[in-house]
Amino acid sequence: MDHFRALVADSNGEEQPKLAIRSLTAADLPEGEVTVRVAYSSVNYKDGMVGILGRMVKSYPHIPGIDLSGTVAESSDSRYRPGDEVIVTSYGLGVTQHGGYSELARVPASWVVPLPTGLTLREAMILGTAGFTAALSVQRLEDNGLSPGNGPVVVAGASGGVGSVAVNILAKRGYEVTASTGRLSEEAYLKELGAAHVIHRDELTESERKPVRRPQWAAAVDPVGGKTLSYLLSTLQYGGSVATSGLTGGIEVETSVYPFILRGVNWLGIDSVECPMELRRRVWERLGSDLKPTMLSSAIVNEITLEQLPEELAHILQGQVRGRTIIKLG
Ligand SMILES: NC(=O)c1ccc[n+]([C@@H]2O[C@H](COP(=O)([O-])OP(=O)(O)OC[C@H]3O[C@@H](n4cnc5c(N)ncnc54)[C@H](OP(=O)(O)O)[C@@H]3O)[C@@H](O)[C@H]2O)c1
Repeated sequence: MDHFRALVADSNGEEQPKLAIRSLTAADLPEGEVTVRVAYSSVNYKDGMVGILGRMVKSYPHIPGIDLSGTVAESSDSRYRPGDEVIVTSYGLGVTQHGGYSELARVPASWVVPLPTGLTLREAMILGTAGFTAALSVQRLEDNGLSPGNGPVVVAGASGGVGSVAVNILAKRGYEVTASTGRLSEEAYLKELGAAHVIHRDELTESERKPVRRPQWAAAVDPVGGKTLSYLLSTLQYGGSVATSGLTGGIEVETSVYPFILRGVNWLGIDSVECPMELRRRVWERLGSDLKPTMLSSAIVNEITLEQLPEELAHILQGQVRGRTIIKLG
């Protein structure tokens, strides 16, 4: 491939970046042991922060895209050979180093995950970082004692990427799932994913602060943070857990020691970026087997082109994207 297309963000460092599709050559790619012919990438909230707002980017021009799946074109690392199907997410991909919004990518071999049995390259990107984070949340909750008999589980930001996949995985595993959303118009979608109940996000936020409230949930998956997380901590059942992954509702969390010392609740931090490779591979393998969401085989996935991507990146920052969006590159 002499020339390939990529969505490139450029900025003088003071203004928000401008996005344009450019024709590049392999010499434009960073150093790395593995060159990948990208088949699919995906849209995550972080891609909006990088591509539209220019957050976390150290230098321009920059190719965003924190996720990619594809086929190895060249490798100087003996673990990977041309033709191998792989996934790359996390670390510096699409943030400190050129990412997946490109027909060709080059990455360190230490970032590469072999495509697990049970997933196609397309399915891997329907999941992407959001799906991986949802699965890691479920794994951590279950490692901390959660099982379907413990009681209902709530998922905040349920119409978004992390939320949609979490609802779907939990429902398939037999949990009674309550989906919390700011968009009640998505009730049918959330029920299709397996939610037993759909509530408005206002029901998970109260202006009056109380240390603990009526215990409701055995566990919570929370990509929202802020007041929602404060409320969730105060409404977990005895010994319940919340898996915290995101900040779309804010970064400040008001709480007290009471949920912890009166109810023994667990506040579990979820980080996909530096998740150790052994755990990362295990979670991806589970996503191809016992955690594989049913949404992968349904039509409720949005597939777009590189040309449509700038508009989609703006939409995700406005909380307007439903579920998962993938970009076909190969
Ligand atoms: N820790 C990690 O490793 C990790 C990995 C992936 C993602 N994340 C973080 O997780 C969050 C979700 O990522 P995503 O890719 O799933 O994004 P997304 O698709 O945009 O989903 C976020 C959802 O949050 C809800 N939301 C948006 N604005 C809100 C507000 N002001 N108050 C309350 N809820 C609001 C919306 O759901 P409803 O419309 O249904 O309410 C929205 O769909 C982001 O903060 C992202 O940075 C973290």
